[in-house]
Amino acid sequence: MAAALCAPHAVFAVDAEAAESLARRENCLKCHGVDKKKEGPSYRSVAAKYRDKPDAEARLIEHVKSGKSVQMASGDWEDHKIIKTKDEEAIRNLIQWILSLD
Ligand code: HEC
Repeated sequence: MAAALCAPHAVFAVDAEAAESLARRENCLKCHGVDKKKEGPSYRSVAAKYRDKPDAEARLIEHVKSGKSVQMASGDWEDHKIIKTKDEEAIRNLIQWILSLD
């Protein structure tokens, strides 16, 4: 048991608490609710949109790192926020959490 927990490449499980706290720190929740549409779509609707897309994870990781132009609820186009952390695992965990919302 202890050995399994310490294995460097243990099977990756979503840490929802870490994901939400990163989203809060990065101000993502200013524009995205889990259930509520704000400036951006709710994370649950993002999960629904990407549910059947095999490359969802890679595309959304690219999305939060690239800052491409997106349309706000107000209709204005703005560059999407680029996530500040350089912690790839934390970014992956955040995206997997979003995609895990059902
Ligand atoms: C200033 C408001 C704002 C902030 C802050 C923001 N977003 Fe967004 N986000 C948007 C908007 C608007 C869209 C809609 C893009 C579209 O549908 O064209 C979006 C779309 C997305 C999508 C879906 C992309 C897709 O292809 O459907 C994800 C995932 C996402 N944001 C994650 C994040 C994360 C993670 C953060 C924090 C690092 C964040 N957003 C911060 C406004 C914001």
